[in-house]
Amino acid sequence: MIERNIIYNEDCQSLISKIPDNSIDCVVTSPPYWRLRQYDIEKDQNNKVQLGQESMPEEYINNLMYIFNSIRRILKPEGSMFVNIGETYYRMTTRKRSMAGIPDRLKIAFIESGWYVHNDIIWVKDTYTLDPVKDRFTNNYERIFFITKTPKGYYFKQPRIPFAESTLKRVQYAASNKKTDHRGMGNDNYQKMLSRIANKEITHRAMRSVWDPKRDATTLKFPYLTEHSAKFDMNVVRLLIDISTPEQLSDGTKTLVFDPFMGVGSVAVVARYMGRDFIGSELSQAYWKTSQRFLDDTAGLFDNLFDIVEYKDMEII
Ligand SMILES: C[S@@+](CC[C@H](N)C(=O)[O-])C[C@H]1O[C@@H](n2cnc3c(N)ncnc32)[C@H](O)[C@@H]1O
Repeated sequence: MIERNIIYNEDCQSLISKIPDNSIDCVVTSPPYWRLRQYDIEKDQNNKVQLGQESMPEEYINNLMYIFNSIRRILKPEGSMFVNIGETYYRMTTRKRSMAGIPDRLKIAFIESGWYVHNDIIWVKDTYTLDPVKDRFTNNYERIFFITKTPKGYYFKQPRIPFAESTLKRVQYAASNKKTDHRGMGNDNYQKMLSRIANKEITHRAMRSVWDPKRDATTLKFPYLTEHSAKFDMNVVRLLIDISTPEQLSDGTKTLVFDPFMGVGSVAVVARYMGRDFIGSELSQAYWKTSQRFLDDTAGLFDNLFDIVEYKDMEII
């Protein structure tokens, strides 16, 4: 087994090839987006074009899927993969002002390659508010695909969200008002469910797929690095790891979180904070060095913070 708790300064494909079958519990990753950034990466010996700099989206998606399909071998059947992917507007072609549909293309490629796509989580971001576009809306979200290699039996700890008071009031009103239109959900069953909520037999609901980390979960003040412009929100990473991995396996070993595109090491820092092991790769030497510093600087920093995600009482219906 390749050594754990190391970010390797190498190409992800080369690292993946050294990881044994069915050994990863959870993948949390964000690949280089299509034609958005030129990372400080030297071309490899074959002088291949950098991932993300392909001239057409089809080629980019094929290259990404080659990597993700090789991850299928190392992911445990009960494991999960979360892939954050951003949109790009065409710049180099005649369709200059159109979205290229990158997340949609990737989602279809996952489905067609036999993966099970359970959600595309909308991660609400407030970092784009200075976007100076004049002829369209500012995009303030990104998507994170929740994917498994098996259709069921994967580890998933459903966060149970307590109903908000205002929701309870509305449900109590609806439960007592038989004429309420229940959006075609089969009136009788729906009415029964409303009554059970109104009577407080059901007190919690499932978490929804639009995530605004500031609203939906207790946000910790993770240390912030300015070095990488496409970093993960560490609170989002925390949520993803929390729902998809137990802290320990039945044999007492720690669960193993993998990120093939570590950047400055956000996934490693959060995994370690949560008592999980990590492993990952980062091709750029500059980012890799930053990740080493980030890991060093945060070692031991979270010793008193060893809580697990708390989900807030959110509005519903
Ligand atoms: C979107 S960024 C990931 C940022 C990361 N989530 C973080 O929080 O810092 C993608 C990263 O992939 C790296 N990368 C690009 N091609 C790679 C490859 N073939 N193997 C490993 N890393 C690669 C880039 O250098 C870049 O840092």
